[in-house]
Amino acid sequence: MKALVLCGGAGTRLRPITHTSAKQLVPVANKPVLFYGLEAIAEAGVTETGIVVGDTEKEIRAAVGDGSAFGLNVTYIPQDAPRGLAHAVLIARDFLGNDDFVMYLGDNFIVGGITGLVDGFRAERPDARILLTRVPEPTAFGIAELDDAGRVMRLEEKPQMPKSDLALVGVYLFSPAVHEAVRSIGPSRRGELEITDAIQWLIDQGRDVRATTISGYWKDTGNVTDMLEVNRSVLETLEPRIDGSVDAYSELIGRVRIEDGAKVFRSRVVGPAVIGAGTVVSDSFIGPFSSIAEDCRIESSEIEYSIVLHRATVIGIGRIEESLIGHNVEVTPAPSIPSVHRLILGDHSKVQISS
Ligand code: G1P
Repeated sequence: MKALVLCGGAGTRLRPITHTSAKQLVPVANKPVLFYGLEAIAEAGVTETGIVVGDTEKEIRAAVGDGSAFGLNVTYIPQDAPRGLAHAVLIARDFLGNDDFVMYLGDNFIVGGITGLVDGFRAERPDARILLTRVPEPTAFGIAELDDAGRVMRLEEKPQMPKSDLALVGVYLFSPAVHEAVRSIGPSRRGELEITDAIQWLIDQGRDVRATTISGYWKDTGNVTDMLEVNRSVLETLEPRIDGSVDAYSELIGRVRIEDGAKVFRSRVVGPAVIGAGTVVSDSFIGPFSSIAEDCRIESSEIEYSIVLHRATVIGIGRIEESLIGHNVEVTPAPSIPSVHRLILGDHSKVQISS
């Protein structure tokens, strides 16, 4: 059994963060979302892992390296443009050989890992197994229609008129039968080779395609709301630990992690929350479900239910909630007279100002 992890894609829904970094590397509780997937693969006993990379290849390579830190042996497979998930399988043909494999979308987050799923596939060896979960917005996903016996009848990618609310989760298990399928399909309306169409091809050929419906936690972290929600759920399981320093005028409540070299002065941190290595928090309130990355400066501000990426500075701001603040961003007050907003915002930034 091998693993194929997809880390291409432009990440348009996470702009502007993804102008400068891969969406799979946006941290959840100060760890890139991709790392949770790689850990789950290693835990399932799979070692040989191909990572399909696009424009952000350099960054993904820098973060993952040869995979040994995860107990994996990683091979990088460059994709010239985001041409679809089935295209990724097509170009990984040599790497995959005639082995079964688990395909994992690098921006997906699955609580509880994939060990049970991989073990089940090894034992049963159908041609494919897909994972499904109920979603409130079926038009945003690949959607499956099951018959009364729970067999997969039809799959449709981002349907305008969804026939069900069962979405394809970004983890798929395949036997080598999928290779003929990805060679047999043509591009979809959006011009991509869809894995959904390849699986439909297998179904049409009478191959054994099975589905598991999961009710556990799953998120496609492609947008900010989902990122914040995944961050919340991971922080819920945080082991409190203080490796940095907290002065006598500060108070930590609940599950709080203060990483190495972080300093907290005259502040209140209410967990679950994590303060990254080298970050300085002073005269501030850090509220529940906040992840502040490394080397940030938070002064005289309040932050809750937010992700702050490394080297960001937030000084003298009232309260920030439900926000994703990028690397090296500076948020500081404007002069109070005249009352103005001074903004230098990158392309695709989103700002909500209360005044
Ligand atoms: C992809 C798949 C879709 C699946 C989703 C899960 O969509 O094409 O079928 O439901 O991942 O994350 P994308 O996120 O590439 O738009």
